Amino acid sequence: MTDPVYITEALIAEDIEAYLNLHQHKSMLRFITCGSVDDGKSTLIGRLLYDSKMIFEDQLAALENDSKKVGTQGQEIDFALLVDGLAAEREQGITIDVAYRFFSTEKRKFIVADCPGHEQYTRNMVTGASTADLAVILIDARKGVLTQTRRHSYLAHLIGIRHIVLAVNKMDLIGYDQAKYDAIVADYAAFAASIGIEQFTAMPISGFKGDNITAPSENTPWYSGPTLMGHLESVEVNTAAEAAGEFRMPVQWVNRPNLDFRGFSGLISNGTVRKGDAVRVLPSGKTSVVTRIVTLDGDLEEAVAGQSVTLCLADEIDCSRGDVLAAADAPPQVADQFEASLVWMADEPLVPGRAYWLKLASQTVSVTVSQPKCTINVNTMERLAAKTLELNAIGLAEITTDRAIVFEPYADSRTLGGFILIDKISNATVAAGMLNFSLRRAQNVHWQALDVTREAHARLKGQSPAVLWFTGLSGSGKSTIANLVEKKLHALGKHTFLLDGDNVRHGLNKDLGFTEADRIENIRRVGEVAKLMTDAGLIVLTAFISPFRAEREIVRAMLPEGEFFEVFIDTPLEEAERRDVKGLYKKARSGALKNFTGIDSPYEAPEKPEIRVDTMRETPEEAAERIVALIIGDWMPVI
Ligand code: ADX
Repeated sequence: MTDPVYITEALIAEDIEAYLNLHQHKSMLRFITCGSVDDGKSTLIGRLLYDSKMIFEDQLAALENDSKKVGTQGQEIDFALLVDGLAAEREQGITIDVAYRFFSTEKRKFIVADCPGHEQYTRNMVTGASTADLAVILIDARKGVLTQTRRHSYLAHLIGIRHIVLAVNKMDLIGYDQAKYDAIVADYAAFAASIGIEQFTAMPISGFKGDNITAPSENTPWYSGPTLMGHLESVEVNTAAEAAGEFRMPVQWVNRPNLDFRGFSGLISNGTVRKGDAVRVLPSGKTSVVTRIVTLDGDLEEAVAGQSVTLCLADEIDCSRGDVLAAADAPPQVADQFEASLVWMADEPLVPGRAYWLKLASQTVSVTVSQPKCTINVNTMERLAAKTLELNAIGLAEITTDRAIVFEPYADSRTLGGFILIDKISNATVAAGMLNFSLRRAQNVHWQALDVTREAHARLKGQSPAVLWFTGLSGSGKSTIANLVEKKLHALGKHTFLLDGDNVRHGLNKDLGFTEADRIENIRRVGEVAKLMTDAGLIVLTAFISPFRAEREIVRAMLPEGEFFEVFIDTPLEEAERRDVKGLYKKARSGALKNFTGIDSPYEAPEKPEIRVDTMRETPEEAAERIVALIIGDWMPVI
């Protein structure tokens, strides 16, 4: 057993305050190790943990949560045993995801993300890399630059890691041969330049023997660069670059304990802010001046990137969570259409046109992703045509948010350019993304303010506009009932219009078929048309299968609260198939008609429709009566 572990243990046991203090004031480097177990990754990580004043992950948690628990978990660790443990965890699939390990030295604290190296774990590597400042790309000196070296380097670069270490490992197994080492480094340099990596630090090491890990090795007298630990301890962490930029702070929350105090709290992502600085609130564009910079430790004259502060402003301007405070004369951009790089992380592939949640800094908006322009083969960097993104795929696509967001290209700011996509139904994170640039057309197409408003249109017709959205299987009775409802409303003097699937598909949507993507586009267009018609003051009835919950929810969200009524025509599949009014079920069963809803294409029934019609119990006439009564009676007072 070596001393460092004992020293740490002793300090933890004797003077926990001193220990925590020591830790608090050290800077932190987050890094990622890339390479497979064969490249000696476990051995290297074991070596770093072993040679440093190692503490275990659970001890870190204990330190952060409850300092009293510390000191009970110290145990003697043997190097070989430690490495075996790390490798076994990986092989048994215990650490399929990213394993974060913590260690520290006199100079710095480290969190190393140990990520699996195979292509099927691309998403895991991206997760680990997303918070890393540095990547250690491990190469087996006997094998040189491999496909996976290229893949890992590309991903590290894509995710914005600015410091790359090329650790040529297992030097002991090639007799510390300088010529072989130089050839590997030259080989890598050519590749790195081709993908835009401007610089990297190469070093010859042996994780197993400990060469150039903490002390310069006598076996490589020809190498005069830093040791791995020395480099990790001294490399300038990203904050230097971030601190140099213009001031930006995404607002996390508004602090208003009483009427005398109103402050905007958040983590400064870039630049410096001083008392008296002019700042701008984005996206509104309003400006004010910083009057106080408040922290838990008292007021400051200035604060820099990486600090969490509360800013007070001279004016009572609108500013809330999701807004960004920025230097008044150099604000970030605001846009709603972008080109983005996406890493798909879900088993379910991307559905172009579907709405997902996009989270960027403290902003959450609804977003749709177009069909990808291409995917990138992470082994060869080739660009390939693609219709969607599958698990672990990396692609380029245009995205459109439902309202403008404050952003910067990812290359300039990981905070304001990096985002995740979340599935609206399952709430799972499905992708990580990077904004490359905004599309100019979003900035050039402006909304035209109109003098005759939607209220004016509706008032003239003496009614409140609404959308009655009929959904259900083919042959469930949507068109029949919608038609009856329209007749009754018309007879009552209401201004209505019925959009019916079979009809709209002959005109506006004649270019669309029945794939998932086409159905989504079908519903998107019908939703937009229905919305325009409500702007004109009409009561709109739509009769489309509209099989996906997500798109029905998009249409609901497009309309003012209370104007969207989902009418679920609930007819069991067996019954719709038995009726088979158009003979289509028979065709679908025989295989002559593909992607037929209910047969080989899904139907997602509404969970909370405003109206449900059970066609096994109610006749179309009764259902129509009930719908009209509800619409006219309860929900639609005439204005
Ligand atoms: S939706 O799924 O995109 O909402 P929509 O309501 O416009 O469908 O069109 C459904 C009508 O198209 C059906 O009533 C049926 O007459 C016809 N149709 C033709 N092929 C299919 C299919 N594969 N699946 C469902 N309906 C189909």
